[in-house]
Amino acid sequence: MRILVLGASGGCGRRVVRSAADRGHEVVAVVRETSDYRPPASVRLVRGEAGDAAFLAPLLAEHTTIVSCLGLRRASLLPWSALRSPPDLVRTVMGHLVDHARDETRVVWISAGGVGDSRARASLPVRWLIDAGHVGTAYRALAAAEDRVRASGRPWLAVRPVTLVSGTATGRAGPVERYGLASVIRRADVADWMLDVADGTLAFQEPSVLLGTRSTATPPTPRP
Ligand SMILES: NC(=O)c1ccc[n+]([C@@H]2O[C@H](COP(=O)([O-])OP(=O)(O)OC[C@H]3O[C@@H](n4cnc5c(N)ncnc54)[C@H](OP(=O)(O)O)[C@@H]3O)[C@@H](O)[C@H]2O)c1
Repeated sequence: MRILVLGASGGCGRRVVRSAADRGHEVVAVVRETSDYRPPASVRLVRGEAGDAAFLAPLLAEHTTIVSCLGLRRASLLPWSALRSPPDLVRTVMGHLVDHARDETRVVWISAGGVGDSRARASLPVRWLIDAGHVGTAYRALAAAEDRVRASGRPWLAVRPVTLVSGTATGRAGPVERYGLASVIRRADVADWMLDVADGTLAFQEPSVLLGTRSTATPPTPRP
């Protein structure tokens, strides 16, 4: 399968690229001009500005499976630290996907736990954290991106992970009911779960998912 990966240089994106290449998919990884990211040898690297429709549209025409791990960079983990990305980046890029992707294209993309109706499943301390500073800016931007996709009627999956942490994959990613202060998921698990849905290893039909770490691994259900 041919897979286009946006945000390929990020923590989740790198893992999507590596896992997809390991599965034998033909992977095209999109990064910014300035990125020093080096993909696995079999992967085609394309440099450009994802926010530029003229750059993105030809790539969208060539792919029917897209995984986006784009997100806003901040100067540090502190909620009030400066943004290193345009606040409307994800909304802009998802708008380009809506406008230019083929009708049959499947898109799996990263939003965040606590966006949209998953806010009701976040504890009060988590709500306070995700409203703070530029974390709040990023959350409002992701909500706008989700609204853009929903309004288009495209049946694409917004993956809303709980708090991301590093570490090797556990295979225990899955839908969860609650997002509390102790809820974490490894980027490798998010990436592999997104790829499972994108390449049809796992059947998942909902438009969004609060993704967390389950107590046991869920065996994949192939798409019918
Ligand atoms: N942190 C959490 O606990 C949490 C929880 C839930 C959801 N999320 C969401 O999940 C996303 C992915 O997480 P992650 O850890 O993989 O993030 P990450 O490592 O910060 O990756 C962000 C990706 O977006 C790209 N990007 C940022 N600004 C860009 C721009 N102006 N133009 C082009 N590309 C740009 C980055 O490219 P460069 O490498 O070139 O900067 C990188 O590939 C986060 O950004 C956030 O929206 C995070």
